[in-house]
Amino acid sequence: MKELVIKNLKIEYGKNTIINNLDLHVKKDELLVILGPSGCGKSTLLSGVSGLLKPTNGYISFGERIFFDSEKKINMITEKREIGFVFQDYSLWPHMTVKDNIIYPLKLKKIEKTKINLILDDILKDIELSDKKDVYPNNLSGGEKQRIAIARSLVMNPSFMCLDEPLSNIDPILKMRLLKLIKKIQIEYKIPMIYVTHDQHEAFEIADRILIMDKGEIIQSGLPEEIYNEPNSAFVAKFIGRSNIVSENVFDRKKNCKRLVIRPEDIEISEKGKYVGFVKKKIFRGSFVEMHIKYNRETLIIHVNNDKHFVGEEIRFNINKSHVI
Ligand SMILES: Nc1ncnc2c1ncn2[C@@H]1O[C@H](COP(=O)(O)OP(=O)(O)O)[C@@H](O)[C@H]1O
Ligand SMILES: [Mg+2]
Repeated sequence: MKELVIKNLKIEYGKNTIINNLDLHVKKDELLVILGPSGCGKSTLLSGVSGLLKPTNGYISFGERIFFDSEKKINMITEKREIGFVFQDYSLWPHMTVKDNIIYPLKLKKIEKTKINLILDDILKDIELSDKKDVYPNNLSGGEKQRIAIARSLVMNPSFMCLDEPLSNIDPILKMRLLKLIKKIQIEYKIPMIYVTHDQHEAFEIADRILIMDKGEIIQSGLPEEIYNEPNSAFVAKFIGRSNIVSENVFDRKKNCKRLVIRPEDIEISEKGKYVGFVKKKIFRGSFVEMHIKYNRETLIIHVNNDKHFVGEEIRFNINKSHVI
């Protein structure tokens, strides 16, 4: 089984520990999304996996091959790790056409010309850019550039792919299209992928599994719905989706009160509702209306489908679902 295994990984920049004691498995054929705020160490982790950065400690292997082992003093060079890399800034060569950008790594490997052309035609079809073969990157849109960068990383037949915020510069509509394309490629080429982003919408769209990272540590890992429905901390609840985080005793007088996560869609306005608050603010959000409800000393966010309430109005509500953290 070709799985990526990371154990006890530590990466430092000088005296600063960026990644600490990190354990991670990426399963065969899995698309794992690492989701975390800017600066939490996502790119540093990928640099460690690819060999661009030497960890201080730990173990990294893919299938039988050991990439890094601090105990056995193994540190495989980047080229031998056979990882396809895609970055946010495309990193295409401006003086080369689309064709030359894509086939450059194959030429370096001295692969026969007819074979190169076959690979090129196949991959251009996969990324839906067969008609742009002779165009220079400057004459391409951001989305097209990123598809070329993906193609270039794929021609080398990587055993593993790392994508570091590949769609951060792409507009939302095109982003959805490219996410579908990346998922299609991952299924077709049967390669595990680590996809790094700070955008939860991208994560939900594409992930088999999501891993939440903060300050160089993995906070939670699970299926997208597990992370959303059962966040293990306030950090995760706030980072994924909107949420109200309140103490239990705001609603019920309990002794050992814990904190509750209540999603805005789980509060229901009802004439016979148990709780009474008033509407403080309303925001039109397209497919729903976001209402800020003042209740005791808290402000609760509620999502509703209709716009029949007005600011200042007293309303009653129930809480249909909550999760203790
Ligand atoms: N070359 C570097 N030298 C020193 N510190 C760095 C370097 N690159 C990144 N860092 C620091 O490491 C931390 C993690 O950065 P990074 O891995 O780029 O985060 P992310 O990709 O999640 O935004 C940040 O605090 C950043 O300032
Ligand atoms: Mg980064």
